[in-house]
Amino acid sequence: MRNLCIVGLQWGDEGKGKIVDYYADGFDAVVRYNGGSNAGHTIVIGGRTFVFHLIPSGFLKKKKLLIGPGVALDPLTLKDELGLISKEGGRADLLVDERCTVVTPLVKEMDAFIEGLRGDNPIGTTKRGIGPSYAMRALRLSPRAGDLARGVFDMSSAIAFYSSFMKNLPDLALWKSESKAVLEGRTGDVGGTIMQLNEKGSSVMFEGAQGVLLDLIYGTYPYVTGAHTIANYVPAGLGIPNSALGDVMGVAKAYTTRVGGGPFPTEIVEETGAQIRKEGKEYGATTGRPRRIGWLDLVALKYAVRLNGVSELALTKLDILTKVQEMKVCTSYSIEGEETSDFSRALPRLASVKPVYQDMPSFFGVELGDDRLPRVAEDFVGYLEDELKVKVTLVSTGEERSATIRRSA
Ligand code: IMO
Ligand code: MG
Repeated sequence: MRNLCIVGLQWGDEGKGKIVDYYADGFDAVVRYNGGSNAGHTIVIGGRTFVFHLIPSGFLKKKKLLIGPGVALDPLTLKDELGLISKEGGRADLLVDERCTVVTPLVKEMDAFIEGLRGDNPIGTTKRGIGPSYAMRALRLSPRAGDLARGVFDMSSAIAFYSSFMKNLPDLALWKSESKAVLEGRTGDVGGTIMQLNEKGSSVMFEGAQGVLLDLIYGTYPYVTGAHTIANYVPAGLGIPNSALGDVMGVAKAYTTRVGGGPFPTEIVEETGAQIRKEGKEYGATTGRPRRIGWLDLVALKYAVRLNGVSELALTKLDILTKVQEMKVCTSYSIEGEETSDFSRALPRLASVKPVYQDMPSFFGVELGDDRLPRVAEDFVGYLEDELKVKVTLVSTGEERSATIRRSA
């Protein structure tokens, strides 16, 4: 079997955690390649909810867990999550790459500091220090996971840098010793491990964090995260050849959500938005903030499908649309009287575009069933396949692992 990448196609929170957990059976390892503990991956099993930020979502299926060098690693979050797993009676078979950029207490302070400088127009970051940790890496002032594990990194230049603009820096002694304790014996070469697994015939799954529209370069800059979120980053973020990327499964919600600031063309400001938020439990898994709600945006989704070379699509939260009477999708944008369905062209003026909607038959009150979708839902999925030119191979109809309908490719 080939490796598989699961990637979010919107602004994050598409339901990647559930899809990774659902498909994990066929893979020997689940690998994080980007982002950090800004991610919130939720899995619901038997009424119990598990939310993890850093540990790959394959732990419930007892898979090998790998955190690649493209990840910004917060050692204390790792410690908490490992603690949670052992409290559950589990054991994480985890390897962290030596080269991972480390999230220090100082970058978290810098995250809040920079947000403060933005005044009335903050990004709305998760304040987990993700952007600043990658920035410190680019400045060559960041320790790596292996440095902390060995206790060798000299932080004096970094501290001198922070002192030039921040007062009352936190003391790092305790943090250093706790980080060393959690990382010692757990660091190594993730790319090499993946290649070894592949050579002996095992496949791995790459678990994306955030979504395409939060990509540092290709997203809605500056309202983005500090890293790449596209599947194209898998090889670079892990140190494996492009040929090892395998298939790309895109995950999209049947509507759209966004947390934090920035343009959102299909945002629903009317009551329906609040209703979807409530029914869909659309609150941030990392910060608890209410998510902004919008209609499905096919202009943005086409862009995301193309950018990632998506070979199949998982559509999530279809059940939430059975709770609302209205149903529409955005098929193009109007910019100063001109219509376009080219997201790249619209991107520089995204805040002022007007969405053009197509009304769709409502799902209100429809029973979605267990193994086959009813006609109205099948027609909707077929319409999306025609528009996006990609097969929808999985539809999620509820938060439980069991509420999942497979469609043939
Ligand atoms: P998952 O993995 C939703 C958003 C933040 C903010 C912007 C930058 O659950 O899809 P950052 O802390 O990364 O510098 O914040 O990105 N953001 C997310 N929104 N889900 C996430 O992860 C997110 N990770 C970051 O809200 O707008
Ligand atoms: Mg999230």
